[in-house]
Amino acid sequence: MKKPGHFISLEGGDGAGKSTQIALLVAALKKRGHAALATREPGGSPGAEEIRKLVLTGEPGRWDVMTETLLMFAARADNVAKAIKPALAAKQWVICDRFTDSTYAYQGAGGGLARETIRRLETLVLNDFRPELTLILDLPTEIGIARTHGRAHDETRFEKFNLEFHERLRAAYLAIARRDPARCVVIDASADESTMAKAIWTVVAKRFRLK
Ligand code: TYD
Repeated sequence: MKKPGHFISLEGGDGAGKSTQIALLVAALKKRGHAALATREPGGSPGAEEIRKLVLTGEPGRWDVMTETLLMFAARADNVAKAIKPALAAKQWVICDRFTDSTYAYQGAGGGLARETIRRLETLVLNDFRPELTLILDLPTEIGIARTHGRAHDETRFEKFNLEFHERLRAAYLAIARRDPARCVVIDASADESTMAKAIWTVVAKRFRLK
């Protein structure tokens, strides 16, 4: 019988190297014969990608934090229903660039929405559906900001926030990792790409007993 897939998310501030590591992890899984889907949030499914355009473009103050949070959860509900759960049901692995931890970090710690409010939405909208493993790519804030400024694409709305905001994000992610050590593993994102990829593979292989 085909082995089940698993749901993994990658989290971290802007510039931590999530996209590269997701591509490397998907390739490593495929090389060993596991079907794997890479998805992202906000977005992933066609409907959620529409919501992504709404929420990530425009001025930083465009959305009230509650509206922004509801848009994130609307996008997430669609991605879960249309992409993530069908892939898991087909026994594929799903690697998601951000999930609900991003809402706790950005809209919660960053935007000031109470953690308890996000917690209630997580239960209401997702029935507490979470990744089995979350890799938190941790990077000193200055390095993350310097890296994103070197990127060619336009800044998203969130990259326009200041240093202090990014410090709060980092602290929020580390607090999430401390609060939920069974699910979260912190990865040093100041290391080079291949060192990080090795660290990530070691964690994934151990957690899911892969060779
Ligand atoms: P993106 O360009 O994909 O950034 P990154 O490469 O850093 O992942 O833009 C996604 C942005 O959306 C990112 O700045 C974080 C933000 N975000 C939230 O604020 N709340 C959320 O729940 C999610 C999923 C993302």
